[in-house]
Amino acid sequence: MILITGAAGYIGSHAAINFLNNGYEIAIFDNLENGHIETIEALKRLGKVEFVKGDLRNIEDIESVFNKYDIDAVIHFAAFALVGESVANPSKYYRNNVYGTLNLLDTMIKHNCKKIIFSSTCATYGEPQYTPIDEKHPQNPINPYGMSKLMVEKIMEDYDTAYGLKSIRLRYFNVAGCDEQIRVGEWHEPETHLIPNILKSTFGNEKTFKIFGNDYTTPDGTCIRDYVNVEDLAEAHRLAYLYLLKENKSDIFNLGTENGNSVKNIFDICEKVLERKIPVQIVERRPGDPAKLFADAAKAKRLLHWCPQRTIEQSIKTAYEYEKLRNN
Ligand code: UFG
Repeated sequence: MILITGAAGYIGSHAAINFLNNGYEIAIFDNLENGHIETIEALKRLGKVEFVKGDLRNIEDIESVFNKYDIDAVIHFAAFALVGESVANPSKYYRNNVYGTLNLLDTMIKHNCKKIIFSSTCATYGEPQYTPIDEKHPQNPINPYGMSKLMVEKIMEDYDTAYGLKSIRLRYFNVAGCDEQIRVGEWHEPETHLIPNILKSTFGNEKTFKIFGNDYTTPDGTCIRDYVNVEDLAEAHRLAYLYLLKENKSDIFNLGTENGNSVKNIFDICEKVLERKIPVQIVERRPGDPAKLFADAAKAKRLLHWCPQRTIEQSIKTAYEYEKLRNN
């Protein structure tokens, strides 16, 4: 059985669907602090899912999962992931993302479970020294969120040397869209991400969408990011798991489309996909936003045979359908 931590959340739930669709039995561990019970219920309708509500900061909680189920490998998503909040409250991030993960890894070693796929992030690179960013780019995170993920990456290297824990660390760029059948989707409270915020401003009670700065050194002055579809990203986790089974060695992969889209581009595509004008306003830059981030994902394509297929229009379309459902 595969254990997925954080599968009540956005990316974890899509990965869970992918594993279920491919015939795996899964156990889910989530504290439901940011994840949603409705998401777990949706997953339970799709296949064999064992759900345990628990918190990685309590080692007994995770220990109970390994005592109860025979876990072959872990796909580890559970983490806090708001950059701004991590600057204001680093303790929350280090306690959960680092200490919580240590509890998980120690429990895995104790139960002789030595395979893990880890959600890392391009935020571990910090301010880019060059683009596209490949896996060899120096890692100098500029916020506690990125630092917490980098610390875990390093811990995993040491756990491989000492205990033979094999990890695949996946560094995501920006993630977009949702399940084509709209069973799960992006549901953050508060919502800080670009595409859901643009879409939210089309529903009656929401405010004008705000572009955070148009004076960056990019062609249209707004920030450039690499938006990978969440179902494509989910597929990468299964491919990474197969790679780990076959190669039995630790590795690191960037996951992105290798295409940059500016905030303005994304906004224009949203207006086109929705066939309507969306109220917009330019405001001050948001602190800590690098001008340009996009991936060199050649390694994942070459070794995992990962091939992201969905367009940004498809991501926006599914994200909109999910928003509509939630606003009904
Ligand atoms: N943006 C707006 N208005 C909004 C929201 C976002 O203009 O209402 C802009 C941001 O300033 C940024 C771009 O849209 O330029 C993308 O912002 P997101 O918040 O959607 O995503 P980020 O690039 O800030 O963050 C993502 C992940 C983080 C990860 C980070 C790494 O969500 O978890 O990439 O850089 F840490």
